Amino acid sequence: MTTTTTAAGESIWLFGYGSLIYKVDFPYLERRRARLQGWARRFWQGSHDHRGTPEAPGRVVTLVAEPGAVCVGMAYRVTPAVFAHLDHREKNGYRRIAADFRFDDGSEVRGVVYVAAPGNEAYLGPADEEAIARHIAGARGPSGANRDYLLALAEALRELGSDDAHVFGIEDVLRRIGDGTTD
Ligand code: SIN
Repeated sequence: MTTTTTAAGESIWLFGYGSLIYKVDFPYLERRRARLQGWARRFWQGSHDHRGTPEAPGRVVTLVAEPGAVCVGMAYRVTPAVFAHLDHREKNGYRRIAADFRFDDGSEVRGVVYVAAPGNEAYLGPADEEAIARHIAGARGPSGANRDYLLALAEALRELGSDDAHVFGIEDVLRRIGDGTTD
């Protein structure tokens, strides 16, 4: 296993599984598709500052520990300086935690991932796909419509070859209820 550290001049791997896959507004040294074992991507986190407001939060993804689950995402090798920007971007309930993830060639690396744990100030928790899709269809925040977050993530996951039943199930409902087109 390769271990990177956060010492000055070094680099660290970051695993992205939500907007960090498709909205890459930070410099990186390298990026590779990766898999995180034992975690599932779920639209269980509220968003007060990007895809909703404190009064009307949107729904965005977090990771939930689930034995046997595999979350496909994009890993970026970044310098520690990048976390000043990313910690601000992910400030609404996410914490950086250490995680081991695996690249397509089978090699494993220890890096970090942003997880919004139950009990954080914006946490919403589980709901069924229909309810989540209706919630997303009606939410909007400073970063834009919540539906655009979902649709961009679904598209990015298709490009990564990820078969994420939760995300695609919510996308199907959103498109069925007629609010799934981007403007
Ligand atoms: C991530 O993408 O890794 C964290 C969640 C998000 O910003 O959507």
